[in-house]
Amino acid sequence: MGHGVVGSGVAEILLTHKQKLFAGLGEEIYIKKILDLREFPDSPIADRFTKDFEEIINDREIRVVAEVMGGLRPAYDFVKRCLKAGKSVVTSNKELVAAHGAELLAIAKEENVNFMFEASVGGGIPIIRPMNQCLVANKVGEVAGILNGTTNFILTKMIQDGMTFADALKLAQDLGFAERNPAADIEGHDACRKICILASLAYGRHVYPESVHTEGITSITLEDVNMAEAFGYVIKLIGRVKKLDDGKIDIITAPMLVPFKSQLSNIDNEFNGIMVRGDCTGDVVFYGKGAGKLPTASAVVADIVDCCKHLKARRFLFWADGDGSNIIDWRDSVSAMFVRLTGDDAVAKAEKVFGEITTVSGDNELGVLTGEMSYREFESKCQALEAEGIQVLSGIRIGDI
Ligand code: HSE
Repeated sequence: MGHGVVGSGVAEILLTHKQKLFAGLGEEIYIKKILDLREFPDSPIADRFTKDFEEIINDREIRVVAEVMGGLRPAYDFVKRCLKAGKSVVTSNKELVAAHGAELLAIAKEENVNFMFEASVGGGIPIIRPMNQCLVANKVGEVAGILNGTTNFILTKMIQDGMTFADALKLAQDLGFAERNPAADIEGHDACRKICILASLAYGRHVYPESVHTEGITSITLEDVNMAEAFGYVIKLIGRVKKLDDGKIDIITAPMLVPFKSQLSNIDNEFNGIMVRGDCTGDVVFYGKGAGKLPTASAVVADIVDCCKHLKARRFLFWADGDGSNIIDWRDSVSAMFVRLTGDDAVAKAEKVFGEITTVSGDNELGVLTGEMSYREFESKCQALEAEGIQVLSGIRIGDI
């Protein structure tokens, strides 16, 4: 369902890798129908397109459906109906999984079919299956990642090529990375949906995007980027979830300063990187193309193959619904901060308010690295500085990753 960037990639892989897939599965994966409202007369399988979902739901030969339309409507209704009709469903739709994953997994369990979504996080990077299977012996202390290719591409082009924000975004759209409405990328919602999916998987209870504080990259300036570099950090949009000692989770999507020594600091362009901190394994880092036609389609096809191999069995992928009661208030989340300040006697006033700090002087401004504090404390310290005549130009969390 859907013949856009990802959908056309799925069809392409199924057609061009037919022999390879046949060798692994022992039978052919045959594309019976493709649902799309547009015409594709030049497609080698132009005769299999339909504009009518009923043709798919009523076709008993169709056992596996790939939903690659994106968006919540009509994807949610179509997926639910397919599962209830006893068809396994695979999807690349992170918005759908983040909004309705618990419900759709419960329906799949009831109907004894599979609902899989490897492509919904990290594009072509295997992460759902590794977390669900290979790392299952671990208690996961933290998951942190660069989860949005578009924003990482924009930040990289700004930092390395001096490209403007608008030009870099246009290029990302032309390359097929950006969402139909790129606000979802640059305001952090796409990365938020992905960390919600990983948090739900890691901790067994659905985390809804509405419960997660989310900041995008629209207020990041070249001054922030340059000053961060002077301290030995690069700015990345990070989705992060941590398990705290009291059993609650601390989850956020926000730009963070990532130290040069971190594995995540060298992840550029549309690449994504995800660090999973297991108690047995230590840190495991997954890296690869997080967006784009064939990388994402590769993960969709892998799920299709898995569904075809398990037509009569369920792969164990499940989490319960959640009510947000296991999530701490984001203002209580603790981190060190990077701050840019301007005003007279900024060093002395910053020391008085923040205590021990590290500083770098810029043009008419001061860069400061503080110790750890809750965001609530940070806000009140910024107010104290403003009262002393110091202007706070920016405040960005420092990622301990
Ligand atoms: N817009 C998304 C991104 C696509 O840029 O990462 C892949 O989910």
